[in-house]
Amino acid sequence: MRIVLLGPPGAGKGTLANLIKGKFAIPHISTGDILREEMKAESALGKKIKGYVESGALVPDEIIIQIIENRLTEKGAPREGYMLDGFPRTTAQATALDAILKKIGQPIESAIYMETTLPMIVSRLTGRRVCRECGAVFHMTNRPSKKGNVCDSCDGELYQRADDNEETIRKRMDVYLTSTTPIIEYYQKQEKLLKVDGNKESEDLLQELSDEFNENKAAHRD
Ligand code: AP5
Repeated sequence: MRIVLLGPPGAGKGTLANLIKGKFAIPHISTGDILREEMKAESALGKKIKGYVESGALVPDEIIIQIIENRLTEKGAPREGYMLDGFPRTTAQATALDAILKKIGQPIESAIYMETTLPMIVSRLTGRRVCRECGAVFHMTNRPSKKGNVCDSCDGELYQRADDNEETIRKRMDVYLTSTTPIIEYYQKQEKLLKVDGNKESEDLLQELSDEFNENKAAHRD
């Protein structure tokens, strides 16, 4: 299963990806997580990209395409399947991804587009809290940690991402509308787009997608 998760900031891509990973045991490759790890490690790349990420702008295509090309072609890269979350985000990234995957004979099978409304996005992102240690994602009202300000599973401190303030969320939304929405049509033309209602509970979406994947598998067997 090779999947792209598409949708505006806060659509629930990371949350759904974790559920899919739990059920289908396929790796979750999130460009946002990769970039935040580089920033946390204060690597040369981390220092170069910090300004873009924290202001809600996109990291330049050539940097992000190189990161993904390395991940998908290096020794030990996932072969059986994976979910790409947060990539591609521009038409240039989508065409570069197709070119990389063509070389290794692994085309994307589905692009899952999580449609969500702006008030939902703002409420989800302003309430999001992330564990500093294990990266688990919570929401102050929708999915609070049972332990208050520390992580349920590892007791790590919960923090608010630097780009999860209302002003930067609006900037990220503008960037999404201008640069990322053309990709919806890109995958529609390839007949790979699967539109789902991102306002629903993630567990219900997982069930919908599981049914869809199982039907596809059955159709390929027939
Ligand atoms: P990235 O980390 O990818 O951010 P994003 O796309 O804005 O997505 P988010 O992580 O904010 O949201 P999500 O959809 O995963 O929602 P989540 O599941 O956490 O990118 C950050 C930055 O990195 C970019 O701005 C850019 O600078 C850079 N970057 C990354 N990729 C790049 C690329 N390809 N090119 C260039 N630059 C790039 O859910 C949000 C909250 O809602 C959580 O609190 C969660 O608990 C809650 N929630 C989720 N689903 C539900 C639900 N169904 N019901 C109730 N609550 C829910």
